[in-house]
Amino acid sequence: MKRRKALKWTLIGVGGGVGALALGGGGTVAYLYGTAKLDTVGEVDFDTALAVPPLAESELDASGARVFDLDIRTGQRRFRNGRATETWGINQDFLGPTIRARRGEEVAFTIGNGLEENTSLHWHGMHLPAVMDGGPHQWIAPGELWAPQWTIDQPAASLWYHPHPHGRTGRHVYRGLAGMFIIDDEVSESLNLPSTYGVDDVPFIVQDRKFDGGNQFDERSSFMSTQGVLGDRILVNGTLGPYFEVSTRLVRLRLLNGSNSRLYNFGFSDDRPFSLIATDGGLLPEAWETDRLQLSPGERAEIVAAFEPGETVDLRSYPAEFGYTGPFGRLNGGDDRLDVCRFHVADAPADETEIPAAMGTAPDVGGDPVARERSFRLAGFNSINGEQMDMERIDFGARVGTTEVWEVQNNDGYLHNFHVHDVQFQVLTVDGDEPPPFLRGWKDTVQLEPQRRYRLAMRFTDYSDPNLPYMYHCHILMHEDAGMMGQFVVLGEGEEIGTVPEGGAAHDHT
Ligand code: C2O
Ligand code: CU
Ligand code: CU
Repeated sequence: MKRRKALKWTLIGVGGGVGALALGGGGTVAYLYGTAKLDTVGEVDFDTALAVPPLAESELDASGARVFDLDIRTGQRRFRNGRATETWGINQDFLGPTIRARRGEEVAFTIGNGLEENTSLHWHGMHLPAVMDGGPHQWIAPGELWAPQWTIDQPAASLWYHPHPHGRTGRHVYRGLAGMFIIDDEVSESLNLPSTYGVDDVPFIVQDRKFDGGNQFDERSSFMSTQGVLGDRILVNGTLGPYFEVSTRLVRLRLLNGSNSRLYNFGFSDDRPFSLIATDGGLLPEAWETDRLQLSPGERAEIVAAFEPGETVDLRSYPAEFGYTGPFGRLNGGDDRLDVCRFHVADAPADETEIPAAMGTAPDVGGDPVARERSFRLAGFNSINGEQMDMERIDFGARVGTTEVWEVQNNDGYLHNFHVHDVQFQVLTVDGDEPPPFLRGWKDTVQLEPQRRYRLAMRFTDYSDPNLPYMYHCHILMHEDAGMMGQFVVLGEGEEIGTVPEGGAAHDHT
């Protein structure tokens, strides 16, 4: 046990190179490095129909707001033979329903916390007032209700929701608290894209889990991991070994990397091309054809794949193609090859949809005058610009109505990404160059290849609050929980940074 610890710290201490492995001490490290690669291709019995999360029920209240009831609770789920797994879920035992609303609609929620500890629900990717954001300051105590409400005003997109309690986000998400939040708008509704929910338009929440001998989720960090828990089993929408019956020629998958730390490089078993049609914040101006798509934790992508009658093809995750290929990558799953889902295609898929030539609008923040530039350096497990998250410290204030450019860099060899609350941003450049096609749409989370400079432009609009901050952080949940997170406020005209009030959503809002 002692020796294991020592090895781990050697690896961590050097932070950033192959040198660390050489120093780690002979045979053990070499052995571990050799076995670090996981390959489950051909090992997964795709024998369970893919679960499609139910659409959350809603009602219109007297004021016209669309009202949803969400109930966070404990449960049990039989993922495989043997004992059921203790889980957490929202309106069900594991994961939550898909919330769906239209741009322009006011949405209202009643969220009950049936757990024995504080939690929260954050609307990842949503533009909304800080007090509704569901971050660490809007915690819900056990037995209490939180009732956030706001008007949806952003383009059609696949967002998601998950808890964000201070220091415990990883645990809450791992146990099962997460769901998709789909926004529709005039543009998405007018396009002839596959859009029949659960038939040719399918949420695809991809998560890895480790099961212990008693079939329970093993939440412990993997040995020598620099990013926390890494599972060897893949769940899609909570289904282990899923297959999906395809009944149309084109299928749209709304991919969400809902894992705590695993990176996926999606591709089909026959390397067929597919079309990327949307990134985190909405539809791309035009589809981009590719045969691989890499997503880090928290990122979403909508893809459309074409199928032939009678065929069977698998979706896999292939070894990482960028930013995660060295020894740290390998020890954290970067070289893994994983079976994800099998697609069985019916004999005569109907053919009605097409990928339109023109879809969404390109991010247009790049042309704005820049009010302020800031720089962010992520390093180790827990720091941005050398500081750890502190609930009381507001790192800076951005002025409402202005555009800022943030230059973000991963300063070590670990896997990091960068997520900003409240806004969707435009990736202006990566190391001075035009971003690759998968970074040309609206983004709220971006993977950071080590040592490269990502310039992100974002516009702060509509909402301001000098006291209640939004978060920016690495979405590797172990890093986020360890403190790789900061807080900013959006300031109104003439306002100055205030003081964070005592937390608790129920105190702010019941
Ligand atoms: Cu999905 Cu602050 O996170
Ligand atoms: Cu978020
Ligand atoms: Cu990180």
